[in-house]
Amino acid sequence: MTAPVKMRQIAERAQVSVGTVSHVINGSAKVREKLKLRVLEAIRSLGYQPSQLARGLRRNQTNMWGMIIPDVTNPFFPAVVRGVEDVAYERSYRVVLCNTDHDPSKEISYLNELRSYRLAGILIIPASESVLGPQLHSMVTSGPPVVCIDRRPGGWDGDVVLVDNEAGAYVATGHLLRMGHRRIAVITGPLNLTNAAQRLQGFTKAVEEAKITIDPKYVQQARFTRQSGYESAVQLLRMTPRPTGIFSCNDMMALGVLSAIRELGLRCPQDVSLVSFDNLDFGEFTDPALTSVHHPGYQLGTSAANLLLERINGLKQPPKEIGLLTELKVRNSVGPVPHQPLRSTRHPAR
Ligand code: RIB
Repeated sequence: MTAPVKMRQIAERAQVSVGTVSHVINGSAKVREKLKLRVLEAIRSLGYQPSQLARGLRRNQTNMWGMIIPDVTNPFFPAVVRGVEDVAYERSYRVVLCNTDHDPSKEISYLNELRSYRLAGILIIPASESVLGPQLHSMVTSGPPVVCIDRRPGGWDGDVVLVDNEAGAYVATGHLLRMGHRRIAVITGPLNLTNAAQRLQGFTKAVEEAKITIDPKYVQQARFTRQSGYESAVQLLRMTPRPTGIFSCNDMMALGVLSAIRELGLRCPQDVSLVSFDNLDFGEFTDPALTSVHHPGYQLGTSAANLLLERINGLKQPPKEIGLLTELKVRNSVGPVPHQPLRSTRHPAR
């Protein structure tokens, strides 16, 4: 193994001082273009690799951000990560990604580990059963800045970036109502999550304004996963009378709903209409293409990253709540209310 190249060697090769080399590498002061090019050429020819570890120890802070997300298999979350990463990369920060699988104990251990790595900042999309709120609160005075995304953990009154979930759900439900649906069911996410609860509120507001009473059996709580969407849909579609329209509170569950509709021998939207939330890319390619509320995951990520940068750069202001807007993307999964008699269901294959 060859010994790591030192700044002194770079300085000798470029015929500048060690201080100039350090300014070029750390961006700590402006260096004349001619000298900078000599230093960069020396770095290249000597194969210098700065030690992030040594740098982090010197400054008691690294150039890393920690990002904790609940479910890397739901394409919504990678979209948020991309937004964060694009901003971070541009500003020479690097992102360490931790996936909790919605496990609150994994979430806590990740948070504690990330703190010990002396990160510059932390971004969190809380897990369903998150108990991080109070712990995050204690970090405000003694840890790196934290920005929560998409859901507000209980007890956290710090920075958050969210979308207007209630308005999005209200518009989605309104679309079913406008198409004449009156027997409308909703499949929610875990209702302890703020985003899931707000989507249910939007649904309730729309049906109440339309003066419709919803059978409580038509409100199914699921887990924001494809399988839980499938299971809830099977129950709903076997009810008498059957709902003619379903609002699935995210696209992963909508995939499960579409499977259930098909397996029970029904058609979407001829027998059952489906509106969803997230507008993930695959929604254009399902059969039928999904009508869904656009959830701007990438923009959530960039907004959260910019807010984190403000905090890292010392902007002391009261905590912010940034709210982004949603928009309904109309495709083919919602049709007019079906004529009677309705098709009967067959037994599902699984
Ligand atoms: O946890 C899943 C859901 O939360 C996503 O599908 C997205 O809607 C987010 O808000």
